[in-house]
Amino acid sequence: MPVSIRKLTGRIGAVVEGVDLTAPSDPSTVTALREALNEHKAIVFDQVNLDNAGQERVAAWFGELTTAHPNIPAADGTTNVLAVDSETSKADAWHTDVTFVVNPPQVTTLRSLAIPPYGGETLIANAAAAYRDLPEPLRALADSLRVVHTNQHDYARPPATTALRQEYDRVFVSAPYEAEHPVVRVHPLTGERGLFIGGFAQRIVGLPSSDSADLLRILQSYVTRPENILRWTWSPGQLLIFDNRITQHYGVDNYDDHPRRLNRVTVAGDVPVGVDGRRSRQLVGDASHYTGVLEAVA
Ligand SMILES: [Fe+2]
Repeated sequence: MPVSIRKLTGRIGAVVEGVDLTAPSDPSTVTALREALNEHKAIVFDQVNLDNAGQERVAAWFGELTTAHPNIPAADGTTNVLAVDSETSKADAWHTDVTFVVNPPQVTTLRSLAIPPYGGETLIANAAAAYRDLPEPLRALADSLRVVHTNQHDYARPPATTALRQEYDRVFVSAPYEAEHPVVRVHPLTGERGLFIGGFAQRIVGLPSSDSADLLRILQSYVTRPENILRWTWSPGQLLIFDNRITQHYGVDNYDDHPRRLNRVTVAGDVPVGVDGRRSRQLVGDASHYTGVLEAVA
């Protein structure tokens, strides 16, 4: 059966059919999926019939896996699976995964286990389309900026409301990490430029904190324009794969107290490079226990 790719919106997202994810990888399939990710940024598979080991195996088609998280232990019985569980965290803030380390994951996979009877969608935004939407003077400004990403709490956000969520937040920040990234990242495979900000990006280098917050808010408003977003409504047993180098995502908290559980497996990434060729750098912490560094393709 040939691989079929059906676009979900004009700017982001596609459903992939005709791939047996339980089969061993074959190079032509992996190439087709990589090309689909480059073009659509987020791809979805229905009724995947995978367990944790199967999800790890499929994620590894894209490269070496990371461990679950720099600070949060892996889900029981696994080394690479992070439980995304509404009981401990709702992920209801725009972010790119783990951007507080110098080489955040290149690819994130999410597999749905328990889905609420309503709501609980995942929003995924195309950060390259956001960059292209910027007026030229803002684009030129963004090209020149660097920004510090941190895992430390953003105290502008309300504190967690349950003991389990408070404990998760405590572990999340237990070892501090900070990395400086370009505000505009050049994608190593496509050359496409994208805004590389999101919730962990907290201060633009060289700006007073209030100016930094205002400018990040303006840039972020282009990422979250409705036209740049896929709103994915989950069913159990689906696999969503997105390019974490050039997207942001958000778990919509509109499902009351119903359980929502996804398992996440991520693929080690390269060190981001800005428009001027400068690479990101780690300012605080050492995440080498979490991720190897993917050497960018020359
Ligand atoms: Fe995430």
